[in-house]
Amino acid sequence: MCGIIGYVGPRVAREVVVAGLRRMEYRGYDSAGVAVIDDGKIELRKKAGKIGNLEAELQRDPLSDTEIGIGHTRWATHGGPTDENAHPHISANGKVAVIHNGIIENFAALREELETVGVPFQSGTDTEVVAQLLGREVEAGADLAAAMRTICKLLEGAFTLVAIDVTQPDRLVAARRDSPLVVGVGTDENFVASDVAAFIEFTRSAIELGQDQVVDVNRELITITDFAGNPATGKHYQVTWDLSAAEKAGYDWFMRKEIFEQPRAVADTLLGRHGEDGALKLDALHIPESHLRTVDKIIVVACGTAYYAGLVAKYAIEHWTRIAVEVEIASEFRYRDPIITGRTLVVTISQSGETADTLMAIRHAREQGARIVAICNTNGSTIPRESDAVIYTHAGPEIGVASTKGFITQVTACYLLGLYLAQIRNTMFGDEIAQVMNSLTAAPPLIQKVLDTLEPIKDLARTLLGKPSFLFLGRHVGFPIALEGALKLKEIAYVHAEGFAAGELKHGPIALVDEGVPVFVIVPPRSREQLHSKVVSNIQEVRARGAVTVVLAEDGDDEVVPYADFLFRLPKVPTILQPLVSVVPLQYFACELATLLGYDVDQPRNLAKSVTVE
Ligand code: F6R
Repeated sequence: MCGIIGYVGPRVAREVVVAGLRRMEYRGYDSAGVAVIDDGKIELRKKAGKIGNLEAELQRDPLSDTEIGIGHTRWATHGGPTDENAHPHISANGKVAVIHNGIIENFAALREELETVGVPFQSGTDTEVVAQLLGREVEAGADLAAAMRTICKLLEGAFTLVAIDVTQPDRLVAARRDSPLVVGVGTDENFVASDVAAFIEFTRSAIELGQDQVVDVNRELITITDFAGNPATGKHYQVTWDLSAAEKAGYDWFMRKEIFEQPRAVADTLLGRHGEDGALKLDALHIPESHLRTVDKIIVVACGTAYYAGLVAKYAIEHWTRIAVEVEIASEFRYRDPIITGRTLVVTISQSGETADTLMAIRHAREQGARIVAICNTNGSTIPRESDAVIYTHAGPEIGVASTKGFITQVTACYLLGLYLAQIRNTMFGDEIAQVMNSLTAAPPLIQKVLDTLEPIKDLARTLLGKPSFLFLGRHVGFPIALEGALKLKEIAYVHAEGFAAGELKHGPIALVDEGVPVFVIVPPRSREQLHSKVVSNIQEVRARGAVTVVLAEDGDDEVVPYADFLFRLPKVPTILQPLVSVVPLQYFACELATLLGYDVDQPRNLAKSVTVE
């Protein structure tokens, strides 16, 4: 979703700003722009398409070297992805330039009021309303920060805004509501951005702004207030990861690098979860055990891949704790009037911690009296801040838009939560928990083993290149993995793919099976005899109808051999933990196919990494 950066300091602002936009490319965008102030005037360049287009424009028509600048990558909401609609937007009187992430829900009414008094508009965006409102305030003599506070009170919706003003050319003023904003604190220079990645090259010292705050930034000073003008404080922190963690380290794609980081990511997520007495501990779980013992229902809310992690969680948590678990797509949650009581525990899963649908779902749950546990990868992001407790996954920055290590660590954190609840509610014996923990601890080298045997997947991708449709089948925890395998393929290779619970096949989807349709099947371990034999039958059913079968089965499972056109071996793990190994070849297959098709794997069309609009 939109990326925002503002800079004030001794460096050449446009260079800092464009470099920052590059670092935020992973958020997904469809146009980009930069504005600086020189000699009492705003200079602006903006272009639809990739940042390369903006850079070409800057080559053709350079901006002045200035000490202040703002830049933006836009993911279109109101108004198509055109040059005109790209940010920054300038007020009609030329005084103010603004960039914005989020949606101004009442923009149409505000625009009508402004047009009635003769304010001309240049774009079809909601953002331009903000530029015009600020321009008028400043024209009337208001200080930029005061102007920002005044107009924020008029706005409905979610926003991060950054503005510059030709009459006060040494200041950046920014505001936030329900959309991320961090200040990068430098020496004789400061930054504002939607993401620390934008300025990590220059400083690791950051301040996270709170809800409904305005920050006024010059080279030396950072002044924070609330919308009423009362002094306020943000949250100071040091960014613990460095630039190299956000770079590709020799891989062609961030996604591929992130697939290969999964053993370490899972190990890091498991790190330090045992107390001295050997019992499982989740440090940041600040909900009292006494309350967790009274929980009578868990609702998992999440979107996309994180939702599929939630589906895996259902199998594990119900099995280990005997608490009923519902899994909800976050965007549907609050609109169906869910039944929530004080004994409901809502578990929310989000890599970015900024997904608007998920955020709104947990706010709704909170209002109804539920306690919220967040499983999140992004330290200090909005969702964990608004939750009662958080289990951080330690995947490190995930840059590829298609989530990989984000997913596998979410699944790991869900296992930890399930085992922890089982421990405090005595639904498993200590040695049973220890046994699962041992299997979990043994998982990273097994994931590595899968990574070491991926070479044949490359040939498979070449063989299946050009197939218009793919099906994925699984049962039990293999079902969410089938959904995830299909989603990865849709997202980055733009081919039709669907995941099904294998047992559902005969209730309709089998009609899709035709000569040559590739069907991926995730086979459960043989130790789950009934489950296993049902899936083996499903493979035979699709093969009998001409499908090309790609079978993922554990080492030593010979029963599947006669029915597999392509067989990928998975290391032996307990059934519930199988997603940790079975998802990897599916991620890799999607990455390979998209690469062969010549697509931009890290930034698939129409998608954003952090979806901050509902
Ligand atoms: C798929 C993908 C998305 C996200 C979803 C939720 O590869 O990345 O489906 O999983 O947008 O995002 P987070 O986890 O940031 O809330």
